[in-house]
Amino acid sequence: MLNIALPKGRLGDKVYNILKDAGYDCPDYENKDRLLVLESPENGVRYLLVKPSDVAIYVEHHAADVGIVGKDILLESNPDVYELLDLNIGKCRMAVAAPVGYEEDPDRALRIATKFVNVAKKHYAEKNREIEIIKLNGSIELAPILGLSDVIVDIVETGSTLKANNLEVIEEFKDISARFIANKSSFKFQNEIITDMMNKLKEATK
Ligand code: PRP
Repeated sequence: MLNIALPKGRLGDKVYNILKDAGYDCPDYENKDRLLVLESPENGVRYLLVKPSDVAIYVEHHAADVGIVGKDILLESNPDVYELLDLNIGKCRMAVAAPVGYEEDPDRALRIATKFVNVAKKHYAEKNREIEIIKLNGSIELAPILGLSDVIVDIVETGSTLKANNLEVIEEFKDISARFIANKSSFKFQNEIITDMMNKLKEATK
């Protein structure tokens, strides 16, 4: 059976529906409750429901053969996996945002709150801008409101979280979407099954 790491939550439900359309139905998914492993022997797949930010870890370490993960997480953790397909769902942008009307002081380090430490460092290194990072794990938008940071680096989808907190995008610098990834050794030894899944997903997301 092929082990598939699926992100729990919003993206996972969308991804599951695509996999279902592609022929990898798993009847237990609809009533999964708190189950973390779901099997569909007739379709040759076992779903592992994991935290979105952990999908690539499971795949890299071969606890899963394939997975679906946001490009934001791949950019941040740069895992040693194959990125096989852009599923064109879960689309958003990586952006810098600040309180409405914010003016940057170029004479001191820019204080950035973010979950995406490596992405932010790389972005500002390319601009030769001195920064100070405040690593947070969620509700990033609070940081500039409370004066903990000047700006945030985060993903923006509809923009409604920013708007609700009186923040605005200063700069968008990367397009993000969900990607189909594979463990390198699985891709070598189960190539036919994984390639078949990739082609079916390609067809289902066209
Ligand atoms: C993400 C992101 C923003 C929000 C953007 O948070 O960090 O807060 O979604 O979406 P929007 O532009 O459509 O408002 P998520 O829901 O993943 O929760 P988090 O605060 O725990 O990171």
